[in-house]
Amino acid sequence: MLVKELLASVLLLASSAQAKPSDVRYIVPGAKWVDTEGNFISSHAGCVVFNPSDKLWYWFGQDVKGDNSVFQGINIYSSVDMVTWTRLGHAIGPQDGVPELSLSSVVERPKVIWNEPSKQWRLWWHSDNSTYGELKQAVATSPNITGPYTFLGSHRPLGDFSQDFGLFQDDDGKAYTLYSNGDSAVGRDNKIDLLNADFTNQTETIYKFNDIDLEAPTILRTPKKYYIVMSHKTGYRPNNVVYFSADKLAGPWSIGAYIAPPGTRTFNTQSGWITRVKGTKQTTYIYVADRWDLYDLEDSRYVWLPIVPNDKTGALEMKWRDIWALDARTGEFFEPKGTTYEAERGSVTGNARPAGAPTASGNMVVTGISGSSSTLTISGIKGTGEPQWVSFYYINNDDMGFGDQPAGSPDRIGGKFALRRFATISINGGAPVLLKQPSGNEGIVLSVPLQLTLSKGSKNTITIGGSPNSNGLEWAADLDKIVVY
Ligand SMILES: *[C@@H]1O[C@H](CO)[C@@H](O)[C@H](O)[C@H]1NC(C)=O
Ligand SMILES: *[C@@H]1O[C@H](CO)[C@@H](O)[C@H](O)[C@H]1NC(C)=O
Ligand SMILES: *[C@@H]1O[C@H](CO)[C@@H](O)[C@H](O)[C@H]1NC(C)=O
Repeated sequence: MLVKELLASVLLLASSAQAKPSDVRYIVPGAKWVDTEGNFISSHAGCVVFNPSDKLWYWFGQDVKGDNSVFQGINIYSSVDMVTWTRLGHAIGPQDGVPELSLSSVVERPKVIWNEPSKQWRLWWHSDNSTYGELKQAVATSPNITGPYTFLGSHRPLGDFSQDFGLFQDDDGKAYTLYSNGDSAVGRDNKIDLLNADFTNQTETIYKFNDIDLEAPTILRTPKKYYIVMSHKTGYRPNNVVYFSADKLAGPWSIGAYIAPPGTRTFNTQSGWITRVKGTKQTTYIYVADRWDLYDLEDSRYVWLPIVPNDKTGALEMKWRDIWALDARTGEFFEPKGTTYEAERGSVTGNARPAGAPTASGNMVVTGISGSSSTLTISGIKGTGEPQWVSFYYINNDDMGFGDQPAGSPDRIGGKFALRRFATISINGGAPVLLKQPSGNEGIVLSVPLQLTLSKGSKNTITIGGSPNSNGLEWAADLDKIVVY
């Protein structure tokens, strides 16, 4: 289908009869996503499942708000289009007298599936105590997808430790749990275990990835192949997520490869779920990931991107898209074109200055942006007078220091360096808005979005300055360009 026709069909989804481009509800990876009440969506490390009986999508995830050391509950949201989400409350929350559901319990990576024999939904999760010493899985059940879910129990799968958690249901109805068996020398394996008929316990391990030491597992299935996607173990810090492919779940599995360009740390995300949208025209696979903010967990964002499997080679490809739209009915998606403004064409103050950058567009960035006295102003920006998505492309090579860094390197866990830079964005001289620019790597260009309202016409200016981060440094990242949608 032509992009133009696709745009037209997506526009039809917009409720208004005279749909404008601004009515299209885009999926904007890394933006602040809000629910139908205007609240920040709190649904981390979860799953997105389709309920055929009401034709709605349900998004389950960890409610991460306020004091993050306290278990708050598993949130449920529902949607027709996978963009407009309504919060339905908690699937399960803290319960007196249930040690697995106490305020200090760890209830992570919730996954929900339908169990046909019992006509019940099962909610599984990684169940632990606050020091991660229990290493268990837990199950709850409900006749309704919306819950409430009744706690059934917790256990170690086939007696082994279980760290992190993933779940996969195959097209033949069988279900599998995916997990790592811990960090100890006897562990570091990743397992695929078959569940019993009522999805309450494991019956056998059908494949074991020996010593690969990965976490956050999820499986994508095409009619021909299976792809398992897992992250490295670096806590809340993102890394290069890995996939393996196979013709059968029991293997043999391919060797691993990265799903996104190396150095982007999978666009600063951690894996955890892949949603299959089996539309009337096409099947689309969506990588559903977390961009954890380890300084402010509540401000962790969501990054959803289409993943394209290639069954001939067994490869997965995931490209960055600033904004994209999905037709959840047909399964089609499209990415609009924006207007680019190069940073080096702007005017600078103080120490801000253009610098050569081989990997940036135009091979230039503006570096030295800091506080309110070293700024970059881009002029002549065209606006519609309505909210528009603007993507800021930047290079932030503050390193996170894994593996190849000497001990004591600033960005190690417990280190003191900045993991991100904060920019301030001001439209036409107005009040500045904060923009977090998470760390990348040398030469890696990343982008972060903001929804801004520019004046109608071509006379807008955007001024970029720096704001103090958690270490008091007020440098913004080097700016490559902005793209206005
Ligand atoms: C967590 O569980 C482990 C194993 O039972 C135990 O050794 C540890 O003390 C527990 N931690 C807390 C905070 O209870
Ligand atoms: C399931 O949800 C429906 C609709 O909200 C409700 O009518 C029904 O009572 C619920 N069933 C149970 C067992 O909770
Ligand atoms: C789960 O399976 C294990 C091993 O097959 C068994 O020992 C255990 O009793 C089962 N647990 C439940 C609750 O059925």
